[in-house]
Order: sequence, then structure tokens, then C-alpha cells
Amino acid sequence: MPELTDIVGGREIVVVANRLPVDRVVETDGTASWRTSPGGLVTAMEPVVRELGCLWVGWSGGADEDLPPFEAEGMRLVPVPLSGDDLEGYYEGFANGTLWPLYHDVIAQPGFHREWWESYERVNRRFAEVVAHEAPRDAIVWVHDYQLQLVPALLRALRPDLTIAFFLHIPFPARPLFAQLPWRREIVEGLLGADVVGFQREQDAASFRAAAERYADALAHGNLLRLSAEDDDPSRSVLAQEFPISIDADAFAALATRPEVRRRAEEIREELGNPRTVLLGVDRLDYTKGIRHRLKAFAELLDEGEVTVGEAALVQVASPSRERVAAYRRLREEVERTVGRINGEHGSIAHTPVVYLHQGFSREEMAALYLAADVLVVTALRDGMNLVAKEYVACRSDELGVLVLSEFTGAADELRRALLVNPHDIEGMKAAFLRAIHMPEKEQQRRMRGLRAVVQGNDVRHWAENFLRASSSMAEQRAAADTS
Ligand code: F6P
Repeated sequence: MPELTDIVGGREIVVVANRLPVDRVVETDGTASWRTSPGGLVTAMEPVVRELGCLWVGWSGGADEDLPPFEAEGMRLVPVPLSGDDLEGYYEGFANGTLWPLYHDVIAQPGFHREWWESYERVNRRFAEVVAHEAPRDAIVWVHDYQLQLVPALLRALRPDLTIAFFLHIPFPARPLFAQLPWRREIVEGLLGADVVGFQREQDAASFRAAAERYADALAHGNLLRLSAEDDDPSRSVLAQEFPISIDADAFAALATRPEVRRRAEEIREELGNPRTVLLGVDRLDYTKGIRHRLKAFAELLDEGEVTVGEAALVQVASPSRERVAAYRRLREEVERTVGRINGEHGSIAHTPVVYLHQGFSREEMAALYLAADVLVVTALRDGMNLVAKEYVACRSDELGVLVLSEFTGAADELRRALLVNPHDIEGMKAAFLRAIHMPEKEQQRRMRGLRAVVQGNDVRHWAENFLRASSSMAEQRAAADTS
């Protein structure tokens, strides 16, 4: 296995993401500690950054904190401060009230507010300035996700020596949806400041290339976008291509073989009253995840007597997310009302049909839950990748368990042996749940073996290798162009 540092020809790497890999938590008594940040970005990037030993620039998770750079678990972390106003305008506003719903097929209505946009611009500029100050000469700067789409162009203007790579963890919208954005040209130009723009799926990359042709006069040749010379910027190419992200499959597999994790998995089943089938959902509490659709399907199966309480239980982990954004608050109320209704109507003193946990859990507890679950249900209405699906598969070295997976996730492009569902089709989803519940072990093994081969074959190390190899080759082309 080649070293990642060799792949980048010894160049230094700087990772830039909205959040640092750890969030600062201040207790009521004023004591502060750090805990792993929420979301798939951190799960995926942490092992890569650990191996590269690189710098990570991001927000610490709190408002109005001006913290100095610090070291944590072998990483050098540089916090970017956000004020209460930045959180409202940039994070809750433009990132999660405009871009998030727009990029997820307008499942919720995006707000197009000029103050939010101004705040997004301001914060992106601050990130670019911090990176311009911190990045070593000729480094590769790896910018992540929709919160920071203006950083590539801003950074290129400040530090032309840097090679800039960008990876979008969420979908890039199809042209008619992207066209709604009043600042579509600025976003495209921001991204085109990078040398490489990576996406989860082929269709995301194709939508971006189409937007770049339309709004930035770029010319697409295959995966390359040719930009013509402008002012003192010579003509250059940007690689816009899919690089489907993954997880550290071996680390999850190793976790799941630990005796205490296995014991905990048995304990979980006992605590649930030893039902024949445990179904599991694991999501941030987000309207893109299709939690309401999943509950509806499960509730109808209970209503119709296809599933009986005591024989089957659904454990829904819904980790708290973006709690100050109105759409998330409404979703929480709706989900909790629905869970209450299902449990009220179908529960008994001994059995609860839906065990709802509005909490985040440690990786060990998650691995135990994956082992305890006969069926993992991923019913997202739209999802860039969905790493939970891959984590479940990586943990199941016993080759048992069934993955029910929405066809609207990036993971569905790779995990073809899952039971693929359209979460809008409640009848179809009910049929898939029943098929999963009753699937013979032989078929489970056949499917799980195929799924595991895919996840092991493209783990996060492989993803990072591909992405960094492409970035490094763009860096070499730049260096060659500079000397010619
Ligand atoms: O890619 C989706 C994303 O925004 C990531 O950047 C992050 O990993 C996750 O969702 C968590 O979201 P937030 O940082 O808003 O809590």
C-alpha cells in the first residue's frame, strides 16, 4: 500500500472543513472538553488526516470563541471563530437553510435571503484568509463541502502557489434546481478556483460540469473543464469528477470483533426483550433521511398485523442536528409525535415497537447496535453517500443481516446487493421490510458477502489515494505550466 505522503510527492496537505474533527463542549459548570464532531465527513476524514499528520482548519462548534491553534490526537487543529451572527446567517441560514435543501432536491423549501448570502461570503473569506496564513508554500489544500464553496477561488487569489482540491460530500443539484439559486454564478466560480472538484456520484459531477459551462463559460472535455485566460490568470483546466467516499472498513470490522462489543450486542437484544427481528435506523435527525416515511411503513405493517410487537422492534437512533433551524425543529416534533402514537397504539407493558433515541453514541455502541440488528433501514429521500450503510456492512463479518437501502443514496450506486427501495413508495418499502424480516440465512449471506467485497474494495484509504493522486497530478501540471 503506497504511503499517502508519497502519493502527494511529499507536498504538505491542509484540510479545511466547516467543523474541526472535535467539537468544544462547555458544561454548565464552565468546564470545557472536546468530543468527536457529528456527521459522515469527520468519520471518513479522521483516519486519512491521522495518517497524513496534516493541519485541519475549521470551526470549533461554539459561538464567539477565539481559540488558539492546538494539537489533538496527532493532528494540528486551527479554529476559525464564528460569531452568533455568523451562525445565524452563514451556518443556519445560507448553508443549512438555502444550500442544504436546494442540493437535496428541494425536499424542504430553500430560503433565498440576501443577508444569509452576505454572511456566507464573509465567513468563506475568513476561512480563506486563515488558510492563506497557515498553509505552507506549494501545499495541497483540501477544502470540504457545501459550506465552503467560495473558498477555492478566494484562496487562489490570495495564494497562487497552492494547489486547491475540493470535495462535495452532498449531492450537486440537477440544472433546473441549481438554476433557482440567485448566486449560482458566484458558487460555480468559487468552486472553479480549485484544480480538482470531487463529487460522490457521476451524476453530481455531470450536473456541475453542465453548470460550469452554462454559468462560467467553461468548456467540458470529458471530466476536464477548460477555463479561458482572464486578466492575469492564464487559461487552465479543472478536473471535475466523481470519487465515491467510504469508511475505514477494517477499523469498523475490528471494532465489531471486540468481545465487549459482541457482549453489548447480545445485551441490547435482551434489553429489547429478545424479539425475533431487530430493525435499526441510524441517522442525524434530518428531513433528508426519510425517517417519517420509514415510520409510516413500519406503522402500517403493525396496523395490518404483518408485523407483531414482541416479534419485531425498530430501534431508531436520531442524533440531534441543527436544532435551531425551523425545519429541523418541525421534523423533531413530527417524528416524536409519530413514535408516541405508534408506541401508544401498538405497545404493551412488556414491548415497545419503536425505541427512539434522540442521542449520539460512541463508535463502540454503534458497532454493537449494528451487530444486534437483523435489518438496517436506510430510507433517505436524497443522500450524498450514506456511510451508515457501509458501516453496517463492514461490521457484519458473520455475513448475516440485511441492508434495506434507498435508491436515492450515493451508496446505492455501489451496494447493488442491498434491497433497494424508493422511500416515496410506502407499499414497496413495506414489501422490502417484510422480505428483509423473512429472508433466509443463505440469501442474507450471499448478499452480505457481495456487499462486504464492495466496501472492503473501496475503503476510505482507497478513496483518499484516488483523490490525492488526482490532486497531485494537477499540482504537477501546474508546476510544469509555471516553468514553461
Ligand atoms: O456532508 C454533510 C454535513 O454537513 C457534513 O459537513 C457534516 O459531516 C454533517 O453534515 C454534520 O452537519 P453539521 O456540521 O451541520 O452538524
